[in-house]
Amino acid sequence: MTPLTLSDTDPAELGVDAIVVGLHSTDGAEGQSVPLLAPGAESVAVAFEGRLAETLALLGATGAVGEVTKLATLGMVSAPVVAAVGLGPVPESGGIAPETLRRAAASAIRALAGAERVAVALPAPDQGDGDHDAPALRAIAEGALLGTYRFAGYKTKPAPGRRDPVKSVTLHVADAGDRTAKNEVKRAGIVVAAVTRARDWVNTAPNELRPPDFAARVAEAAAEAGLGVEVLDEKALKKSGYGGILAVGMGSDAPPRLVTISYAPKGATRSIALVGKGITFDTGGYAVKPAQGMWEMKSDMSGAAAIASVMIALAALKPKVQVTAYLPMAENMISGSSYRPGDVITMYGGKRVEVLNPDAEGRLILADAIVRAQEDNPDYLLEVSTLTGGQVVALGKRVAGVMGEERLCERVRAAGDRVGEPAWPMPIPDEVRKGMDSDIADISQINSGMDRAGHMLQGAAFLREFVADGLPWAHIDIAGPAYHSSEPTGYLVKGGTGVPVRLLVDLIEDIDANG
Ligand code: BES
Ligand code: MN
Ligand code: ZN
Repeated sequence: MTPLTLSDTDPAELGVDAIVVGLHSTDGAEGQSVPLLAPGAESVAVAFEGRLAETLALLGATGAVGEVTKLATLGMVSAPVVAAVGLGPVPESGGIAPETLRRAAASAIRALAGAERVAVALPAPDQGDGDHDAPALRAIAEGALLGTYRFAGYKTKPAPGRRDPVKSVTLHVADAGDRTAKNEVKRAGIVVAAVTRARDWVNTAPNELRPPDFAARVAEAAAEAGLGVEVLDEKALKKSGYGGILAVGMGSDAPPRLVTISYAPKGATRSIALVGKGITFDTGGYAVKPAQGMWEMKSDMSGAAAIASVMIALAALKPKVQVTAYLPMAENMISGSSYRPGDVITMYGGKRVEVLNPDAEGRLILADAIVRAQEDNPDYLLEVSTLTGGQVVALGKRVAGVMGEERLCERVRAAGDRVGEPAWPMPIPDEVRKGMDSDIADISQINSGMDRAGHMLQGAAFLREFVADGLPWAHIDIAGPAYHSSEPTGYLVKGGTGVPVRLLVDLIEDIDANG
């Protein structure tokens, strides 16, 4: 992990390789945008004899969100480079949105790849007078650290011209001894380590992360963090009748697993179950997916990766709430032993399901894990999965869908809003469930009639069948947000995003504080 330190030394005098300052856009005369330096840049502006904003404007800087303009300082300040990052217009009320700061810090740090030490002097106002600056600091710290993320990859030679990520970050604050500031920096380190871990697992090539490998890596990391771990192998799964996990996993030479991780602090009064989809690769089985883009299905274990990483973060953050993770892992492959459309399988707990589409494998492994999770009597059940392409169609690549008990869904939405991992509540209409009646079994795996309409909602309707009445539960479909497929932007680079690690940490802290 990239080291992150606090400093209250004048940024103009810091012996670093670059200083990051913020720049607001303003509408000047004749619609021209004249950028305005944000708080934090004062001493650098003075060192430039008041001509920094003007110079940046000459270089084309406008202060638009995401824009980064680099300037050689030629000795005007200690650092040889100033990087001005756009923050958009000065907010009319309240502070700058934390997500804007998070993205800006990351964009600046990415643009400074090749530099070793970077100081960030973005506006994190009012050190020392209570908590209200914490969200800004948290966002800047997380963004800066996420901006240094790069997957190690598999290149045998370094790519020509590729510069290394920034190696260490100093955050400029008014008072480096401030407790809030210290806490936020520590928390950001823990949370970004979790996001990084989740991303690394998602980005790992699927031939290197088949279910037994994934289970072993997760178990090792969790045990190292001091968490309780149990791994059920295929024999144990058979013995206990995990029919969903076994059906999906049996087409692969690499057998399925169910990993349970527990965090049980003394004095906890609430308990949360987390269930995460761990399909290490989804070919679609005998409903085989098109070749184009199929490689992204190495990310079909994003839910499990995020949850395992959250568990490890909890061991360091130590909230007073009990959390248990249930992570079913399988590889959805094609072979002589694969399951097929028409199969009827007996799920964990005894329900019979008529399989209609082997590409709807996620709900089968999840239903088993959901039933298992409820044996431990949780107060809340949260399930995270890259479940449906329908989620991407409905909400796109940045907004997850959340379905289940209304109040818990609202809390998921609010947590996502606070951390910049948006999740939007979606309904589970009756007619979707009706279409899943089976002629021969308890329920069909999918709606056989309605074609692709409301796919995301069908997934939720199926899972709801396995949730006991009255248990607050939420299904979070992250098919879109789990994986970033385009050019780098803000704190996202191509590959796994780590969504919804930050949302879950925030929500667990909310449950810890408010029940
Ligand atoms: N893993 C996929 C969903 C997915 C799609 C994740 C795109 C990420 C990006 C899932 O197992 C799947 O194949 N879902 C099917 C369900 C259908 C057969 C009911 C889908 O969405 O088409
Ligand atoms: Mn599938
Ligand atoms: Zn899948």
